[in-house]
Amino acid sequence: MMDWTDRHCRYLHRLLSRRALLYTEMVTAPALVRGGAVHLLDHSPQEHPVALQLGGSDPAELAEAARLGARAGYDEINLNCGCPSDRVQSGTFGAVLMRDPALVARCVAAMRAAVDVYVTVKCRIGVDEQDPEVVLPDFLSHIREAGVRRVIIHARKAWLQGLSPKENRDIPPLDHDLVGQMKARFADLHISINGGIASLDEAEALLAAGLDGVMVGRAAYHQPADILCAADRRIFGVPGPDTTPEAAVNAMLPYIESHLSAGGRLNQVTRHMLGLFAGRPGARAWRRMLSEGSTRPGAGPELVEAALAQVARAAA
Ligand SMILES: Cc1cc2nc3c(=O)[nH]c(=O)nc-3n(C[C@H](O)[C@H](O)[C@H](O)COP(=O)(O)O)c2cc1C
Repeated sequence: MMDWTDRHCRYLHRLLSRRALLYTEMVTAPALVRGGAVHLLDHSPQEHPVALQLGGSDPAELAEAARLGARAGYDEINLNCGCPSDRVQSGTFGAVLMRDPALVARCVAAMRAAVDVYVTVKCRIGVDEQDPEVVLPDFLSHIREAGVRRVIIHARKAWLQGLSPKENRDIPPLDHDLVGQMKARFADLHISINGGIASLDEAEALLAAGLDGVMVGRAAYHQPADILCAADRRIFGVPGPDTTPEAAVNAMLPYIESHLSAGGRLNQVTRHMLGLFAGRPGARAWRRMLSEGSTRPGAGPELVEAALAQVARAAA
């Protein structure tokens, strides 16, 4: 998620779940290939398994961007066919690609030929006036034909005219049933569902109904502990105790130290930690101490330790 799932966020989320697959923000192929912005690929070895999401619509450029991503160590390269923002439409990528499945097929074929890791697609169920029951199966047939085996479907349309990107995440109605029908029809595709899933209970129900995966966006960002701490046990069947937000905070301290010594700012890391105690005692004080203190000059890990002590007092 743009501006959210940067490397600091992913490092934190990986401390909460060893198994959940994490995704980068969308990185555009032109930025990597023409702009030479390979620093956008920087990540920590601890983040694995981690997928790089690319935006673009030029097969050769996407192939080169995928090659750079695989060389940088990403475990999967994902093509964005869901982002509705104007900026992205003007470059002919994102959700507007739902209108051109043949082009998407050429893009993913070129990407697959360039790398050994999985090439996956994240799409919508359609855009604008399209009929999802017609265009979604056609889209899936095209990418399957091009060799794609894994797809994530954001179970709502994008309306490319008149809605902001934010509205496009809420206003077009969700159609989880249609995604379930696609799984029944494309049994050989690994289909993950996305959109409006806000608890592990819901995720488990969707998996039990036959879907292969569940992608959680906003809830994982705003309530990371609720979604991730029990995910290894409940979703992946890994025995052992659940992780805790307290342990994750302690494990973030050395990461924060090294980020600061490399010239980074505390807030760049702690802004992703604000929701760690959401719904738990002390959540409000934690959020306030971090958001008010972390931009002050000289702020460091002591602030995070003090905020954690406050949470412990509230919980006692
Ligand atoms: C701030 C923000 C940035 C996003 N950026 C991306 C992105 O870069 N690529 C993408 O595929 N989806 C992006 N999304 C959409 C989410 O991945 C997801 O499809 C959408 O929020 C619906 O899932 P949710 O209800 O679990 O959040 C973004 C969402 C948000 C809130």
